[in-house]
Amino acid sequence: MLPLPLPDPQATARLADALASQLVAGDVLCLDGPLGAGKTTLVRALVAALGGDPAQVASPTFTLMHIYQARLRVVHVDAYRLSSAAGLGALGFDEAADGAVAVVEWAERVADAFAGDRCWRVRIDHDGAGGRIADVIPPAGKRLQLPVIERMLPPEAPAG
Ligand SMILES: Nc1ncnc2c1ncn2[C@@H]1O[C@H](COP(=O)(O)OP(=O)(O)OP(=O)(O)O)[C@@H](O)[C@H]1O
Ligand SMILES: [Mg+2]
Repeated sequence: MLPLPLPDPQATARLADALASQLVAGDVLCLDGPLGAGKTTLVRALVAALGGDPAQVASPTFTLMHIYQARLRVVHVDAYRLSSAAGLGALGFDEAADGAVAVVEWAERVADAFAGDRCWRVRIDHDGAGGRIADVIPPAGKRLQLPVIERMLPPEAPAG
């Protein structure tokens, strides 16, 4: 997909809203991007959009997996400290994700667990101007439906 400008955290939240409206039970959202890209910000907005409590969403640190009750159960994993898909298995990820929406921060660290085109993939990068830019790859056969206004935004913030 075309790079999607996310000039502020609210724009990241709107991307989360769009994703939330399309995610179904069993979907996996692979979330990548450098430190501070806004991955957890997106998860927090996603949980809110799904009717859960965003205040429960923290960067998983010592607990690598969190589960939030929302319209769909949301399983949130931070794979930053994992180095292989085996680590995910040890967390009980497959059982937890069954029938839930799973969101995996730093998914590329456990890429072998999410090979192929069954996952939603969102990569967020710094845009060099204090904002972020996202690249979204839906799973095979799906398209991200964005509000018209987002699609009309130019790829760079307007000057002045
Ligand atoms: N689109 C955006 N534009 C500007 N700032 C943003 C945007 N999205 C999030 N932020 C800000 O970036 C900071 C880091 O966000 P967040 O903790 O969600 O990043 P992260 O990718 O989860 O980081 P980590 O890799 O450490 O887990 C927060 O202060 C957040 O408000
Ligand atoms: Mg985070």
